[in-house]
Amino acid sequence: MKRRHLPPVLLVLLLSLLSLSFRRRLLIPQSPPRPVAGDPLLRRLAATDGVGSGQILVEAAALFSNASISTFPSLGNHHRLLYLRLPYSASPRAPPRPRTVLRLRVPNEALPSDGSLLASFRASLGSFLVAHRRRTRNVAGVMGDLAGLLGRRFPTCAVVGNSGVLLGSGRGPQIDAHDLVIRLNNARVAGFAADVGAKTSLSFVNSNILHICAARNAVTAAACGCHPYGPTVPMAMYVCQPAHLLDALICNATATPSSPFPLLVTDARLDALCARIAKYYSLRRFVSTTGEPASNWTRKHDERYFHYSSGMQAVVMALGVCDEVSLFGFGKTPGAKHHYHTNQKKELDLHDYEAEYEFYGDLQARPEAVPFLDEPQQGFTVPPVRLHR
Ligand SMILES: *[C@@H]1O[C@H](CO)[C@@H](O)[C@H](O)[C@H]1NC(C)=O
Ligand SMILES: *[C@@H]1O[C@H](CO)[C@@H](O)[C@H](O)[C@H]1NC(C)=O
Ligand SMILES: *[C@@H]1O[C@H](CO)[C@@H](O)[C@H](O)[C@H]1NC(C)=O
Repeated sequence: MKRRHLPPVLLVLLLSLLSLSFRRRLLIPQSPPRPVAGDPLLRRLAATDGVGSGQILVEAAALFSNASISTFPSLGNHHRLLYLRLPYSASPRAPPRPRTVLRLRVPNEALPSDGSLLASFRASLGSFLVAHRRRTRNVAGVMGDLAGLLGRRFPTCAVVGNSGVLLGSGRGPQIDAHDLVIRLNNARVAGFAADVGAKTSLSFVNSNILHICAARNAVTAAACGCHPYGPTVPMAMYVCQPAHLLDALICNATATPSSPFPLLVTDARLDALCARIAKYYSLRRFVSTTGEPASNWTRKHDERYFHYSSGMQAVVMALGVCDEVSLFGFGKTPGAKHHYHTNQKKELDLHDYEAEYEFYGDLQARPEAVPFLDEPQQGFTVPPVRLHR
């Protein structure tokens, strides 16, 4: 792996975390998007795999082959410092030197030896890589397997975005009345129950959230204390940085019966499906707003880092396991806070939220127009979707 790619990856992922579930503009387009000429071309371009995942796979392969793990007693022996390292060469002729990919304070007890932690980490990376290589285009299969991951299907689901439009909405009881309530990136509910509800059935996060829990709490809290909705509420996570598979092992190793670590890692096939849909809507938006050819899309979006948001994968997951899907807290109105629960002001362009809103609008108004979900041979039917403002 080339070193010059890594700091941007880390920066971008950190900023992505700051911006996740951040809903800046109006969710529902005021008028339906103009049809775009060359839709089959957009589909073809969007179906080219690699968006957002190329860099992840390179990094996973490098970690699988060359990573090392070492821990050192830290001051006072209250805990150990763990380093995940990867050799890199600054230039083709320079000898490789170890670079720290991840550094954590971990408990003295509970963790296996460095060697067996590395072996488990390599096993996780190996499964991750195999899943990415084997992914298929069988949408009904991908969606069907989600019910297996969650244990069953649900009659009604609410996916709760984190937009400030929820403040003052009084939607809490309506949200809590759903059979499955999915929340995003551990957004706080305490103090907001009237507007966002109090029930959580599934906490959906990107792996940065778990890493932050591990960095803060691995020493002090069982299972990294990553369950603000209660220790038994399952967490579904997608891997946005392969090193985070090590956080998962560490948090799991410190789990206890009263603080278990009920983690479901979503499937590479779901990642690929979300990537194709996100890229299609981003291409479509690019073409219709700039008038430039779709091939110019990369002028605006860096293909290596472009990624769908956590909210979008949670919505796609809900399509797979629910008979009816309601979306709350996506989108924005003038004057609304960005997040209901933070004072964050800005987001970055890693995600194309406007494009994702057009996707949600299509799910509600014309699901037959959503690419990749619609093809008759796929055998998948989009359930009714309702956007609540
Ligand atoms: C692992 O390290 C070796 C030696 O530096 C290098 O040639 C190889 O490409 C690395 N493997 C991966 C998958 O990056
Ligand atoms: C956590 O560890 C237990 C065994 O200790 C294992 O059965 C389970 O699959 C692990 N879960 C995760 C998410 O790694
Ligand atoms: C496409 O992008 C290039 C720059 O990368 C620009 O020169 C060109 O004018 C763009 N095409 C159109 C039709 O705008």
